[in-house]
Order: sequence, then C-alpha cells, then structure tokens
Amino acid sequence: MCGIIGYTGPRKATEVLLSGLSRLEYRGYDSAGIAVIKGKKLQVTRKQGKLSVLIEELKHSPVGGHTGIGHTRWATHGAPNDTNAHPHTNHEKGITVVHNGIIENYSDLKKELIKKGYVFLSETDTEVIAHLIADNYDGDLLKAVRDTLRELEGSFAIAVMRREEEGRVVGARRDSPLIAGIGKGERFLASDVPAILEYTKEIIYLDNDEIINITPQGHSVHDKNGSPLKKKISRITWDITQAEKGGYKHFMLKEIFEQPDILRRLISKRVRKGRIFFEELSISPKDLAKIKDIAIVACGTAYHAGMVGKYILEKEVKVPAWVDQASEFRYRDPVIGKDTLVIVISQSGETADTLAGLREAKKKGATVLAVCNVLGSTIAREADGIIYTLAGPEIAVASTKAYTAQIATLFLFTYYLAAIKKVKGHNEKNFINEIKKIPEKAESFLNAYHTKKNVLGAYAAEFHNYYLSRNNKSCFLYLARNINYPNALEGALKLKEVSYISAEGYPAGEMKHGPIALIDENPWVVCIAVRAATYDKMISNIREIKARGGIVMTVMTEGDELAKDKSINYVIEVPDVREELSPLLVVLPLQLLAYYVAREFGYDIDKPRNLAKSVTVE
Ligand code: F6R
Repeated sequence: MCGIIGYTGPRKATEVLLSGLSRLEYRGYDSAGIAVIKGKKLQVTRKQGKLSVLIEELKHSPVGGHTGIGHTRWATHGAPNDTNAHPHTNHEKGITVVHNGIIENYSDLKKELIKKGYVFLSETDTEVIAHLIADNYDGDLLKAVRDTLRELEGSFAIAVMRREEEGRVVGARRDSPLIAGIGKGERFLASDVPAILEYTKEIIYLDNDEIINITPQGHSVHDKNGSPLKKKISRITWDITQAEKGGYKHFMLKEIFEQPDILRRLISKRVRKGRIFFEELSISPKDLAKIKDIAIVACGTAYHAGMVGKYILEKEVKVPAWVDQASEFRYRDPVIGKDTLVIVISQSGETADTLAGLREAKKKGATVLAVCNVLGSTIAREADGIIYTLAGPEIAVASTKAYTAQIATLFLFTYYLAAIKKVKGHNEKNFINEIKKIPEKAESFLNAYHTKKNVLGAYAAEFHNYYLSRNNKSCFLYLARNINYPNALEGALKLKEVSYISAEGYPAGEMKHGPIALIDENPWVVCIAVRAATYDKMISNIREIKARGGIVMTVMTEGDELAKDKSINYVIEVPDVREELSPLLVVLPLQLLAYYVAREFGYDIDKPRNLAKSVTVE
C-alpha cells in the first residue's frame, strides 16, 4: 500500500506533489510527507493524519523548489506518526527516500547498519533503504540504488533524491507498482496514473528490478545490472475527469452511478457482429479448448465476483469450476496442472495474495488468465492471458464499479469459452441479447430509486434512527441463494467496510443450521428474492424470519406480488431479468444502502478506517 510520487521540471514541486498525493490517498492515508530540493538544501515536511494536515502545515511553512518526492502512507512498520511518516533521510549524505511496499529483511539490514554507526530515527523498514543507499554511495546515485536493490528482499517501489543533485530523481520497483510520466521539459514518477494525468498522458510502465533516472529533459531506464533498456511509452486514453468526482459528493456514489455506462461500453467493446471477442487475450482458442477445469482466485470483492463466475462457468461451460480466496489458495497446495485454467481477478492488479496465487498457479503449470482493471499492472503483465474490465480508474476504497465490470466480463468470457468448447445447447446469441439490456435496466433502477426519489437514503436514515434507539445494538444479515449468494456476501462486505456496522452474508438455506438463532427484533435482514428457480425457497425463508419478529428488507423483481405484503418492512424492486444476469442489478441497491448508511453515520466514505485501496502487502 502507500502511494509515492516524484517530480522534476519547471513547476513548483510542492504543488505537483500535493496534487498527485491527493489522487493517491486511496492507497493509504494515515500520514503524508514531501521532500523538496532547492539549491543544495533539502526540505522535508511530514505529518501524521490525512493529506489535509500536511497541506495545512505547508501553508504555514511553504517550501520552494522544482524537484521533489512525496508519500501517502498506510502503516506497516511502526505506528502512524510524524516520525514514521515518509520521506526518510540519511542526513549525512543527503539521501532521501519514499517507499511503497515491505522490506522483509529490514531487521537484519538494520542491525548491520547500526553496527556501522548509522543512527535510526524511525521504526520503519524504509529508513533502512535511505541508509543503505548512503552506505553504497560512491559518487554515483544510480549505482548506489542498484547496489542497494541487490540487498533488499521483499516488495518495493521507491523514489530517491540526493540533496546535492537538484533536478534528478531515481526510481525503482520490485512487486510494487511504479510508473514514469514523460512531459515537455518535465518528468514524473508515481504509483499510479491518476496521480500525474493532469500533467501528462505519456506513461512508461516499469517492470520488476528496473531503475529509472529522471531529469527535466530526459530519462533512462536500466536493468539490475545497469544495462540500459528501451522502454515503450504508452499513451493513456482516459481523462482526469474520469478520475475525479464529477459533481458527486463521494467517489463511491459517482462510481455506483458510472456502472450503466461502463457495462454499455464493456459489452459493445466485447461484442461484434453477434459474437464475443477479447482482443487482448493472448491465450489461443486451441489452448482454451483443452481446459478441463477452472480455478478462480481473488480477494474481497473480486472474490465475490469470482463466486458468481463459478456458478455461470460451471453451468454453461460444463467443466468443474471452483473459487478460492487468494490468501488460502497460495498456501494450500491446490491440485491444479496443465489442464487447469486459473482465472485471477483483481481490480488493482497489484494485490499481493492474488499475485502470489498467480505465481503459484504458473509454477504448477496451469494457464493463468487475469481479469484485471488496471492497465499494465503486475498481475496483468505476469498472467498468460489478460482480459481488462474497462471500468476506468476506481478511486473509492470500497469497490463497486469494478465488481459489476468483473461479473459482466466473466459472463462474456463464459459464453466465449462455451462457444470454443462447442458446449451442447449453448446459446451465445440469446445471452448477448439479454446482457445488452442490462445497462438500460441498471439506469432505470438508479433513476427510480435514487434520482427520482432517494429510497435507499430514506431506508438508511430509518436504520440509523433504529440503531441509535436500540443503543447501537442492531446489525445486518444478507440472505440469498444460488447465483445471488455472492451478492449477499458483497452487500455485507460493502456495509461493513464503509459504515462499520456488523453484517453477515449467508446462503439462505443455511439459516436453519445456525444463523436463525440471531433473529429477533435487532437485525435487519436483507433478503434477495428476485425471480429465480429458488424463489419459493426464499419466500419460505422470509416467512420464517417474519415469524420470529425479524425486520425484513427484500430485493425483489419489479411487479412481484410480494411487494404488496404489508408484513415486509422495506421493499426494493429491481427490473426483471433472467436469473443468471440478475447479480448485475441486485447489487445496485446493496451498494447504495451501504453508501447511505455510512453517510447517516457521517463517516469518511471514500477512505474507510484501516483500509487501503490496493493491498500490496500480505
Ligand atoms: C472491497 C474491496 C476489497 C478488494 C480486494 C481485492 O470493497 O475493495 O475487498 O476487492 O482488496 O482488490 P483487487 O481487486 O484490487 O485485487
């Protein structure tokens, strides 16, 4: 986690760094800092708390200069305080460093450095890097960084400056993201594209163990042995407005509302002349035809999307499919081999556990397909094949639009694979007709339940009052069956993440095996009972909850008679759609509910406590 940025050029470095950090804050926000060089003076300002605290500090003590590095932190080693905030500096040699990642052998390195007389001021692993570069420095900063990388174990993206070298920043990475931006007479380093998109769209994606040297007029990239590398410059096609709030109060709400357009774009990109295509997928149809089983590996929300994928893949492709949390998969010695297709799903493409799962799968000879949102991310590059989810930058920590884009992508891939495997009875045309209707249906739901009348906002306000009236005793349960069961988990996860209210998701059939004991007048039970093969079973579950005094909120199909049942406390109607595609609509009210409950409680919705957008550490 953590976000880093570097700049050298004619602009005021502080302004570039702070604006970049504001777009990287989703990566961590417990402290922030910048270092700027002016003349031969290095000025470092670091503050505990959100970026706004650092900005306030810099208003009182402004820092001039045109070369600098910055950092927004998500603490791993050492408490979030001013001293542990980055940049970290070796004062004697004027080496200053920002770092994203974890140095696994930092404690051994620290002992060695202490023996040599280096004095440590913080508890961080990063300070080791600053002293180590200083120790290796012999008149050539690039070489000192290169020598240091050889000694480091773990993951990192770093940006480094030397006090005496105004106009120069050196960057390097291993298993944590780092990109470089190429402007006219200026250069940038950053963890992610939105941080610098305001200034340039020309981007270099650095690979593991590459080192970059930037000056205002030029840059050079080298491998770990110092040999120069020729790197491709990619042009970003999306705009900074896509990475900004666009009139919404929070990114989370904006991203919920982007979903119809994203689905529309995604479907039209993937479907041509009535057939499904994936241009960037470099696994051949011949190889896909040989696949005998499918393992899906992901974390959090992406894992829930993977669960939906499992249902549909098994049903339509008729091969065994299973889904694992990446943190479990990587350590449990899964039985996979050359006939297995492992689908790793990740919005960021940098999640440490998912990346480790990918490597484990490759080691075992499986073919790995990444379903990923961030272009050029590590997971996208290391997989055998890639399908991008085309959701645009997701900024809110709580994932919404990436989830629906992942599900839609998995649906499309399922039908693509079924066609390749010539599955009997498979009907690609019919599926395409149906999925094409989803964006409009999603739009019409958001219109009816939010734009015209904020129904979920009103339900959330009632919950808030209820919660306070019961001395904070209430909580949420989400129940569903079959392909919407992952949505029950996702609804609960969204609510937990942003409103800190206890919430659990269950397959409704499990209620009698334990969770029904929870039912009294306290929990609010969200029951997903849309048109489906298991509809009658869900209705029985609802009756059982009502019979025990439970408070029920149902998500049902528009026009369902059940909506008239007065005993149901809260009703949400989503447009009618065939069962397998319903997860794409059902999740919308669940996302909105989580958002509005958090808003009622007055929480920082886009940056929930203890979380970071991209979990690049284990
Ligand atoms: C939930 C959320 C997380 C992520 C998870 C995986 O709202 O954002 O659960 O889904 O950390 O992240 P990616 O998809 O980037 O691998």
